Amino acid sequence: MTHAPVLLREALEALSIEPGALIVDATFGGGGYTRAMLEAGARVIAFDRDPDAIARGAALEAQFPDRLTLIAARFGEIGAFVNEQLTGVVFDLGVSSFQLDQAERGFSFQADAALDMRMEKQGLSAADAVNRLSEPALAELIYRYGEDDDSRRIARAIVQARAAKPITRTLAFAKIVEDAVGGRKGARTHPATKTFQALRMLVNDELGEIARGLSAAEAKLKPGGRLVVVSFHSLEDRMVKLFLTERADARGRGSRHAPDVAPERAPSFRLDRRRATAPSDEEVAANPRARSASLRWAVRTDAPAWGDLEPPGLAPKAEAEWRKLD
Ligand SMILES: C[S@@+](CC[C@H](N)C(=O)[O-])C[C@H]1O[C@@H](n2cnc3c(N)ncnc32)[C@H](O)[C@@H]1O
Repeated sequence: MTHAPVLLREALEALSIEPGALIVDATFGGGGYTRAMLEAGARVIAFDRDPDAIARGAALEAQFPDRLTLIAARFGEIGAFVNEQLTGVVFDLGVSSFQLDQAERGFSFQADAALDMRMEKQGLSAADAVNRLSEPALAELIYRYGEDDDSRRIARAIVQARAAKPITRTLAFAKIVEDAVGGRKGARTHPATKTFQALRMLVNDELGEIARGLSAAEAKLKPGGRLVVVSFHSLEDRMVKLFLTERADARGRGSRHAPDVAPERAPSFRLDRRRATAPSDEEVAANPRARSASLRWAVRTDAPAWGDLEPPGLAPKAEAEWRKLD
């Protein structure tokens, strides 16, 4: 089993590693990015909230004992672990192939397993969400985080099914969703894909983590340092884009209709390229997981950090109910 790094060449180019570089790899995963950065001469501090990922990194750490530090923690906590100023921070968001392919992690409906989805292997699981959230909270969650128009039907089916017996397995849950939307209808992706995404995002507070991670990167990058983010779906990419365009104050200033207004704060980032970079056709052909990936990067200026980014709070009811579960 392995994880093929996505947009690796493009991420390395954006990081523009020079001698003496100190980079945080916020998402170590299978270590593909970290290895390439070490080979390019950087010192790397790598985070992953999944203890299995950190354990797998031991061999790489032994190979580069002076230049690699592995930390089992969330990237939202970078500030608590890193004292030095950084020349780069890279995020490769989402889950790794290791997590998806290990049935017992419960991220996938390709095999039967407990409905788990906890990257950290502790705390509340996806089964808790499915069995304990109210029907309106489930509908909101699936609509907002899954962007699934069938959210109400799916939520109703979940509540009906769990009244008979608790929903605990990935395949049984995928079948409930599939039946709720009237089968596969020839779609390319499984009808439960979006619901699984929504649950994963809630269980791991993924958008909250992105908000904290981006703010931490802004605080720790030195002037000229690079922030590079690879995201895998539109909610992630939108957050990254908003963060960068706002802090680079690049919201289409200079238009004929909107006269140039001085920004209230000095930009903390410079966007040399506004558009996201997509993987090449060759990469997508070789690695279908790259299909939805998009990379954005920016350069830290010498202006003070703008501070904490508010998470978007897209599913307030579901998030509030979730926080009350113990
Ligand atoms: C797509 S994989 C990274 C793959 C890696 N770039 C490589 O080349 O092998 C994403 C990894 O990020 C980790 N992750 C996701 N959210 C995280 C967070 N908030 N803090 C730390 N690690 C996180 C996941 O556990 C997973 O291992």
